[in-house]
Amino acid sequence: LEAETKSFVSKFEYSDEDVNKAVKEFLRQMGEGLEKDGTSLSQIPTYVTAVPNGTEKGLYMAVDLGGTNFRVCSIQLNGDTTFNLTYTKVAIPKDLMVAKTAKELFAFLAKQVELFLVTHHGDHFERHVRRRLTVSSPDGFKDENVFRLGFTFSFPVQQVGINKGTLIRWTKGFDIPDAVGKDVCALLQTEIDKLHLPVKVAALVNDTVGTLMARSYTSPGKTGAVLGAIFGTGTNGAYVEKLSNLKKPLTGEYDNSTGDMVINTEWGSFDNQLNVLPNTSWDIELDKTSVNPGIQMYEKRVSGMFLGEILRLAILDLLKNPKVAFFKDENSSSNDWKSTTHIAPNSSIYEQWGIDTAIMSVAAADNTPELSILRQELESTLNVYSPAHDDAQAFKAIAGAVARRAARLAAVAIAAIVLQTGKLTDPESKDEPIDIGVDGSLVEHYPYFRDMITETLRVIDGVGEEGAKRIRIGVAKDGSGVGAALIALVAAGMEKNTS
Ligand code: BG6
Ligand code: GLC
Repeated sequence: LEAETKSFVSKFEYSDEDVNKAVKEFLRQMGEGLEKDGTSLSQIPTYVTAVPNGTEKGLYMAVDLGGTNFRVCSIQLNGDTTFNLTYTKVAIPKDLMVAKTAKELFAFLAKQVELFLVTHHGDHFERHVRRRLTVSSPDGFKDENVFRLGFTFSFPVQQVGINKGTLIRWTKGFDIPDAVGKDVCALLQTEIDKLHLPVKVAALVNDTVGTLMARSYTSPGKTGAVLGAIFGTGTNGAYVEKLSNLKKPLTGEYDNSTGDMVINTEWGSFDNQLNVLPNTSWDIELDKTSVNPGIQMYEKRVSGMFLGEILRLAILDLLKNPKVAFFKDENSSSNDWKSTTHIAPNSSIYEQWGIDTAIMSVAAADNTPELSILRQELESTLNVYSPAHDDAQAFKAIAGAVARRAARLAAVAIAAIVLQTGKLTDPESKDEPIDIGVDGSLVEHYPYFRDMITETLRVIDGVGEEGAKRIRIGVAKDGSGVGAALIALVAAGMEKNTS
């Protein structure tokens, strides 16, 4: 078992040389995406041209459709880098992720907004809702009674303005073909209006942009954060780019006084053509059986939705090998390989997506000599009968290798963006920390994920020991709600300027 485990682990190695090659390719694909549409890295202009500095004030709403949960919040920005957040969170019903029409999903979202208003802003709701007005109608609510809402929509959207954008494609297991090509803000506003809520969808925000904003608001350095990144169900990053580097035409209005533009990279689709990404037989199988084969190839090797599945496919191969005593006795062979294992036939290990990435965090965190915590978890979540120490050890080693490869790939994207911003060599920001906001279940719960990223940054050309020390990766937990509120605030300012 030990030799076989080593061989599996080695298949997930991603050497320093591989990492450096990938950084160069990432920079190349970033440049390509800044020039034209339809490239692997979409490099979407967000029409947000500045990051906050912590002095912003006001009461805003935000909704946040991530990959797994839907959050509704109201945020009081206090103007002194602090804020008060009230929020509710519901799991998105699985059937709505693959609903027939977009209406079903968006009606559900609007209903959650109504519930939130009734529960947390009952007075306001009572005063302004009863008259059956809508935001969009000419005799709608008085402007001062309308909540400005930032809509965090964590999917690739072609933005044409601060509150307008059409869905390019679904990711992370969502698949509602009818929504592709439609303006997602309008879809939400229509459903909100049907319920006569005093809420205007003022800003459309990717979760990475929200995270970037939130990080800049709460820990404003000399220049604010340079990158907001999500390592959760999916993965993606948004960064501050110089407008002069953006060669694609911009169709919407924006404030060009800062000379900057926040770009949503949609790096989940970095290197869909597999020039530099690793590609084991398990990566191939995972992609083939996914809802979107051939795209989000980087995401499928890095983010929480997929790591458990890569691990599962590798584990199944080891289970099928009659010569290896892994969750089974040595030399156990039978026509029905499942019956040779010490795992219940109804275990989710035999089903697609049957290993939740959360168990990988448990494996990594279990430093007990007998791996008793992991063994218990294997028993309770995967129905393994009394897992032996050796088996748990092999499971932990392979899971660790899958996660380590993910963290090394995460460092590729982070390093490439830091290099692109030129901050490491800019004499003006010499010795200043380079601030990066991160969020998502993987970076939050997987132990040492950030440490593995930093360790990898050290071996990257142009970053090195010194650069890695300056790159400060801070968690902006639930940041995108606050970030969306901040962008709704910017949008409200723009409305005033143009009216
Ligand atoms: C949340 C953010 O904290 O993290 C969401 O509010 C984001 O906007 C999410 O999509 C990402 O993490 P996960 O693990 O839920 O995909
Ligand atoms: C997916 C989405 C992207 C989002 C990321 C993290 O990659 O396409 O828009 O930012 O997941 O949630």
